[in-house]
Amino acid sequence: MKFDSTILSRTLFARGARRLTAVVLAAVIIAGCGGGAGGGGQAAEDQVYLIKFPHVTAPGTPKGQAAERFKQLAEERFPGRVVVEVYPSSQLMNDDDSLEALAFGEIQMIAVSLSKFDRLTHSYQVFDLPFLFPNLEAVEAFQASEAGRATLTEIADRGFLGLAFWHNGMKQLSGPRELRLPEDADGLKFRIMESDVLQAQVLQIGGSPQKMAYGEVYQALQTGAIDAQENTWSNIYSSKFYEVQPYMTASNHGYIGYLVAVNPQFWQSLPDDIRTGLEEVMADVTAWGNARSAEINQQARAKIAESGRSEILDLSPAELAAWQEAMRPVWDQFSGDIGTDLIDAAIASRP
Ligand code: LMR
Repeated sequence: MKFDSTILSRTLFARGARRLTAVVLAAVIIAGCGGGAGGGGQAAEDQVYLIKFPHVTAPGTPKGQAAERFKQLAEERFPGRVVVEVYPSSQLMNDDDSLEALAFGEIQMIAVSLSKFDRLTHSYQVFDLPFLFPNLEAVEAFQASEAGRATLTEIADRGFLGLAFWHNGMKQLSGPRELRLPEDADGLKFRIMESDVLQAQVLQIGGSPQKMAYGEVYQALQTGAIDAQENTWSNIYSSKFYEVQPYMTASNHGYIGYLVAVNPQFWQSLPDDIRTGLEEVMADVTAWGNARSAEINQQARAKIAESGRSEILDLSPAELAAWQEAMRPVWDQFSGDIGTDLIDAAIASRP
């Protein structure tokens, strides 16, 4: 069956509201076709397998570096058979559009923040619960646990086969004034990712949450459309948010990590040796990238401090406890959706 997925997806659905419907519809259509775009089914010796891999962060970020390494190692392993095109910095599309494009087979690989899957599964909301994970080691232990591993492939039947979890790092707050205590956030408009948990978190500290694509944040901060935001040091540095946010708070209150996913039909259509080889490459790249992510974020923090453009506040134990207490009710709001088993497994993974 042939169809022009671009026209279909662009015309049937208004941008924004269309996402979930489009993604599920695409998965159904593609499953009905018996194969995704890009794969061949027939393993012709001379067939070249193209993997288009767009993402939204800069090449120097943890995700940017891991994506480039995947390209390098995959092409070295399968010279002339596999070509990986990495498009960083939202240059091809934003995350919402990439979810849809993957389901339609227009692209073959994504690494989208776990926070942005909350229309597809409630499980990944566990990663957004404020102060649940004290550091990346705790996240890693949870992702390696039986409960965590089970979530990796949980949305394969919706068109997203998870191959790996990649870290970015821990989130920090930034704003137009010192954010030492939760009441300092009162009335500020915070940009957040597409996540109902993050929306609840901002409401809990008296802020006004604004869901917005990553590529629009710098300008929104610059023009005053939003006042504040939360992100990792590497994202704040590489996207220059520190130029337009005079105060940062080293809060480490949450986590940003990614589901690296492929379209299941595309993946199954690859010849066995190529699919297995690429899975091995992905495992190597994941270990390599996740081991470097904390250091990349620390380097970014140091560069922000050196720039003198933004003051970084470290919290006293009492100040930190005030943020933890203010945000904690979010756990109860979402524990029913996420499941207490998953939250308990995350708690058990703390060092
Ligand atoms: C964000 O939207 O802030 C993040 O998801 C960006 C990213 O991919 O790290």
